[in-house]
Amino acid sequence: MGCFRCTGSSSKKSENIEQNNPNTFNSKTHKPDDRTPSDKAKVISNLVKRDSDVKVVVSKNDQLALDVKKLNLKDEVSEEGEANGRAKTFTFEELAAATGNFRSDCFLGEGGFGKVYKGYLQKVNEVVAIKQLDRNGLQGIREFVVEVLTLSLADHPNLVKLIGFCAEGDQRLLVYEYMPLGSLENHLHDLRPGAKVIDWNTRMKIAAGAARGLEYLHEKMKPPVIYRDLKCSNILLGEGYHPKLSDFGLAKVGPSGDKTHVSTRVMGTYGYCAPDYAMTGQLTFKSDIYSFGVVLLELITGRKAIDHSKPHSEQNLVAWARPLFRDRKKFSQMVDPMLQGHYPVRGLYQSLAIAAMCVQEQPNMRPVITDVVTALNYLASQKYDPQTQPNQNSQKRPSSHKMERGDDKRETSDNDGSERE
Ligand SMILES: Nc1ncnc2c1ncn2[C@@H]1O[C@H](COP(=O)(O)OP(=O)(O)OP(=O)(O)O)[C@@H](O)[C@H]1O
Ligand SMILES: [Mg+2]
Repeated sequence: MGCFRCTGSSSKKSENIEQNNPNTFNSKTHKPDDRTPSDKAKVISNLVKRDSDVKVVVSKNDQLALDVKKLNLKDEVSEEGEANGRAKTFTFEELAAATGNFRSDCFLGEGGFGKVYKGYLQKVNEVVAIKQLDRNGLQGIREFVVEVLTLSLADHPNLVKLIGFCAEGDQRLLVYEYMPLGSLENHLHDLRPGAKVIDWNTRMKIAAGAARGLEYLHEKMKPPVIYRDLKCSNILLGEGYHPKLSDFGLAKVGPSGDKTHVSTRVMGTYGYCAPDYAMTGQLTFKSDIYSFGVVLLELITGRKAIDHSKPHSEQNLVAWARPLFRDRKKFSQMVDPMLQGHYPVRGLYQSLAIAAMCVQEQPNMRPVITDVVTALNYLASQKYDPQTQPNQNSQKRPSSHKMERGDDKRETSDNDGSERE
C-alpha cells in the first residue's frame, strides 16, 4: 500500500470500571476459511441462538464463532436477531498492509482495549479505522465478539458502521468506517491549539444525532439493546459534525418480558455511569439516559464528566450542576465560556432542563429516549444566528480575551472563535 498521511489525535486510556472475570479463554489457531460472509453470519447467528447447546455445529476454522461459544455470550447478544452478514472478514496481513504495518503516523488514538489506526483497504477501496485489541485478556475478546454481533445487526445513520473484522489466532481487529473529525472528546476537551471551538448549533445537532442513535438501540433494535458506554470519546464525528455512536463491546440485550433490569457486573466509565447501576449492578435503559445526560451537560458546559484539575466540589460534573439546576439565574454561569456568549438563552434553559431530567438520581424519573429525541430535534432545529441574536456576554466582558480550559490555553475572539455550519 502506498504511503499516505494519517490525521487524528490520540486519546489516553480511559478509566473503565471493570470487575474481574473468572472465565478463561484459550484461543485456537486460525486456518484459511473459504466461506462467504453470509455463511459466516448464519453460523454466528446459530451460535447465538444455541450457544449452550454443545452439539452445535461450528467449523473449527471460524475463530469468531469459537469466541462466541467459549464466552457463553447469550446474555450479551441477540437470541432472535439474524446477523445480516454485512461485516467482512479480513486477514491480519490485509490489515497490516492497510496501515503500513501499524505505523505510528497512522495512529489515531488509544482506548481501554487497544489502539486505533487509520488505513486504506484496497479490497474495499475505502479509508478505514482499524482497532487492534490488546492481546492479553478475555475482556477484550468478549468486547470484540459483542461488538461484531451488535454492529452486524444494527444499521442506522447515527451508529458507526462496522466494515469487517479479523479473528486470526490470538489477533482480534475491528474495521470501521473512518470518521474524519475524530471523537467529540477531541473537539470539546482535547482541542488542539488553533482548532475551532464547536458552536451552539453544532452542539445541539450532535446531541440530537447521538440521541437518535441511542433511540435506535433502545426502541428499534430487535431485541432492544442497552449501550452501557455512552461518553464523548464514543461519539465520533463525520463531515459536517455528523455524530455516530461507536464501541458496542459493552452492549447488553435489554430486559425482556416483565423484567425491569438485567443484572450485570458493573462496567462503564467513571462520571458517566448511573449511580443506581453502579450501586446495584441492575442495568436498565435508564442507565443509558443518565450517561446521555452527562454528555449533554458536557456539550453545554464544556466541562469534563470528571475533572481532577478542578476544585473538589467541581470535579464531578453532575454533582457540580445539581445545585445550579435549581436556580434559573445561575444557568448562564453553566454555559461553556468558550462560546463567548454566542448562545440562545431559551435554548440554554431548555437544553439544561433536558440534561437535568436525564441525570436525576431516581432512574424512573428520567425520560425515555424517544422524548429526549423529540425535545432535542426541536432544539437543533432552532438555529441560533450570531448576526441577529444578542451576544449574552456583550455587557459583561470585552469581545476578545484569553480563555483557559484546564491546561489547554487558547486565544479566541468573536471573529474566529466559533465555527458556523
Ligand atoms: N472509526 C473511527 N474513525 C476515526 N477515529 C476513530 C475511530 N474509532 C476510534 N477513533 C479514534 O481513536 C480513539 C480511541 O478510540 P477507542 O474507542 O479505542 O477509545 P476510547 O473511546 O477513547 O476509550 P474506550 O476504550 O473506553 O472506549 C478515539 O477517541 C478516536 O479519536
Ligand atoms: Mg471508544
